[in-house]
Formats: sequence, structure tokens, C-alpha cells
Amino acid sequence: MTITDLALPSTDIDPFSDEALADPYPVYKQLRDLGPLVELTQHGVVALSRHAQVVDALTDSQTFSSADGVGLNDLSNSAFQNTLIGSDPPEHTRWRAVLAERLAPRSLRELKTDVVTRVDEYVADLVSRGSFDAIADLARAVPVAVVLDLLGFPQEGRDQLLGWAERFGDINGPANERMRAALPAVDELFGWLATTCTRDRMIPGGFATTIHEAAERGDIPEDAVVPLMSSYALPAMDTTISAIGSAVQLFVENPDQWEALRENPALIPGAFNEVIRLESPIQAFSRVTRRTYATEGFSIPENVRVVVLYGAANRDERKYPDPDRFDVRRENVDHVAFGLGTHACPGQGLARMEAHAVLESLTRRVRTWESAGEPRRRFTNITRSLDRLPVVVHQ
Ligand code: HEM
Repeated sequence: MTITDLALPSTDIDPFSDEALADPYPVYKQLRDLGPLVELTQHGVVALSRHAQVVDALTDSQTFSSADGVGLNDLSNSAFQNTLIGSDPPEHTRWRAVLAERLAPRSLRELKTDVVTRVDEYVADLVSRGSFDAIADLARAVPVAVVLDLLGFPQEGRDQLLGWAERFGDINGPANERMRAALPAVDELFGWLATTCTRDRMIPGGFATTIHEAAERGDIPEDAVVPLMSSYALPAMDTTISAIGSAVQLFVENPDQWEALRENPALIPGAFNEVIRLESPIQAFSRVTRRTYATEGFSIPENVRVVVLYGAANRDERKYPDPDRFDVRRENVDHVAFGLGTHACPGQGLARMEAHAVLESLTRRVRTWESAGEPRRRFTNITRSLDRLPVVVHQ
């Protein structure tokens, strides 16, 4: 059976075209309005764009499997086989356990003072300049300073990691030009991990050492080391950069919301949720059905690839009143920007720590924001990022 036999609403809308990537939200609304399950004829997949169905897919890994890859093309799905993100339990449970302790709230609490101090010193210096590019000078600088040391990769080649991570969002998209242009990054990254990130060259105490130690103990096979290192190296950077960049953009555009945050910094955790609800750093991943899934009078059988549109679910009007409005006081803890269930982002505590530290420091130092030029968007298949965001700050 092909998906065209499924009697689902169908459309030739391409959520990965340049037009859609420039402003995906009207496209997502069209998809949500078409139905809970919509065939995307250009890509031969079924789109889940409403909050309820996205939650179903993320919380039921027996029906919605990640083991055939979570990208939208065969090349990346085979390259990322046996990684954390591209596996199901029981393998997934073993891979995930390796760094669980390092990313648990107790371990993160030990890092907090250092992260907050580093971020605050950096932001103080930046704000004293009066104007800066919120992407190059802030959003990229913070995860590079915080996460690279934590991962514990050797200095040699580290500077390339950000470039590889930035291509992750293209590699996992459909087999379009963007995806093909990004593909060499996969071999480069895996080559670097295999030849440079060997046990003897790791910075002691880093996540990468913990992964090597798990293999030495026999908790994971030796050939799982490189895929597992890639699992953390790639999604740890670009996502957080995207979130910090979007936060600044939304506050520049919504001065009343900045004022509210400055008056009451206790709103910062909720405000950060609101930023990633509205501008979800990861917009899409996929799953393959292992059995029939039925919802609201429609159904799909086993072996159908579905694209899970996190960014569309987070703006579903069935779930959030006035969904396109940025409101730092909104009830929004049930957004799906960090995923849910088996594959829910294990780095979310760290990402929140970094972003909260940035916002706390900025609320103390920046009275008002002003745009200093057109923001420039980076067009990537499954992530949402800016490339340039010039701002002036008034203290
Ligand atoms: C704002 C920042 C971040 C966002 C929005 C984000 C988002 C996500 C999402 C949506 C998933 C779920 C994928 C799925 O459903 O298949 C995920 C998984 C993952 N994230 Fe994050 N992430 C962020 C930061 C981080 C950081 C800092 C790290 C590393 C410490 C990280 C490591 C991972 C890993 C390893 C997975 C795969 C988990 C698994 O398959 O079990 N992420 N992330």
C-alpha cells in the first residue's frame, strides 16, 4: 500500500521550500486546517501538525519508531543508525543511560555557579559596547563557551564542531539541495570523532570521557562510542544558539514583554518556554509507524513515515489561544519544543540553565532594545535559526 491509497487529506505544499522556511507559520496553519493527518505529496510522508497528534507520536515509541532514523532522507537515516536519536528501546535505553547522571538536575546544580558567572561576565562586557550582533556575539558565543568544555572534546578540530552542528538541520531534511550541500559534514564529523576524539586525547571529566568509560566497562559496545558522541555533539549547540537568538529578536520586537520581564525576573523560566514555543529551534523530525495509528476518523497503517512538526504543534490554535502572540505570562509548560516521552531532550536542563543565565544577566543590564538593521534568517531544513541580528542596547 502506498500513502496515496490512504484516503487522507493531501497537499502539494512543501514546508521545506525557501518560501515556507522564510515564514513557516501560515503553511503550518494550512496543514493543521487540512486535518490531523495530511499526506505531503512532494515528500511521500504524512504530516502531523496539530498538538494532539504530535503528542501521540512523541509519547508512543511502540507505534512511532525512531529506529529507521528521524530524518527525511535515506542517506542521513542510514548515517545516524544506532545513534541515541535514531534508536528504540531497549537499545535506546542503554545509550541514554550513559550520560543520564551527567545531565541530571543534581549534576547541573554543581555547574550552575560557574555557568552563571561566565555568562554574566561575558554579557556585561558585551552590553558595555552599546551595540552588537546578537547571533555572532551572544547566541553563538554562550554555548561555545559552556558546552564545548563540558563535552570535553580535544582542542584540535573543535572550531569545526559548530559548523558541523549548523548543518545538522539540513542533513535531516528531505533530499533537497540544502540537504545535499550539507552531507559532506556527516563524514567529516564522524571522521574527526573516530580519529581525533580517541580515549587518550579527551579532556578528563568531559561527557566524551564518560562515553569512552562506559565502553571500557562493557556497558555499551566499543562501536557505539562514535555514534553516541555524535548524538551529543550535534544537537547541543545549534538548538541553544537558535533559542537565545530568537529570545533577543522577540524582545526587540515586543518591548512591553521586555519591560514585564525586567519588572519581574521570576517570569524568566516561563518566558524562555514561550520563546521556544513560538520559535521552536527544532521544527521537524520524523518517525515510522510500526502498527496502525487511528485518530479523529483517519488512520495510517504500519510502515508509514510521518513528519512530526514540533513548530506547528506549538502554534496550534486548538491548544493555545491567540497562538502567534508572544506572552511571557502564558501557560505554556506543555509545549513540545524539547520533545516528549522516550526521546525528550536530555539536554534541556543544560539549555535552560544557559538561556536563563543569559536572560537574567540581560534583564539587569539592558533597559531597552533597539534594532540596528534587518535580521537575516539562515534557511535550514528542520531547524529555525537567525544568522544576523544587529541590536543597540540602552542601559
Ligand atoms: C534550546 C535547546 C534545545 C532544544 C530546543 C532541543 C530540542 C530537542 C528535541 C525536540 C529533541 C527530541 C528529538 C525527538 O523527538 O526525536 C531533542 C533530543 C535530544 N537533544 Fe536536545 N534540544 C536542545 C538542547 C540540547 C542540548 C544542550 C543537548 C546536549 C547536552 C541536547 C541533546 C539532545 C540529545 C542527545 C537528544 C536525543 C535524545 C534521545 O533520542 O533520547 N539538546 N532535543
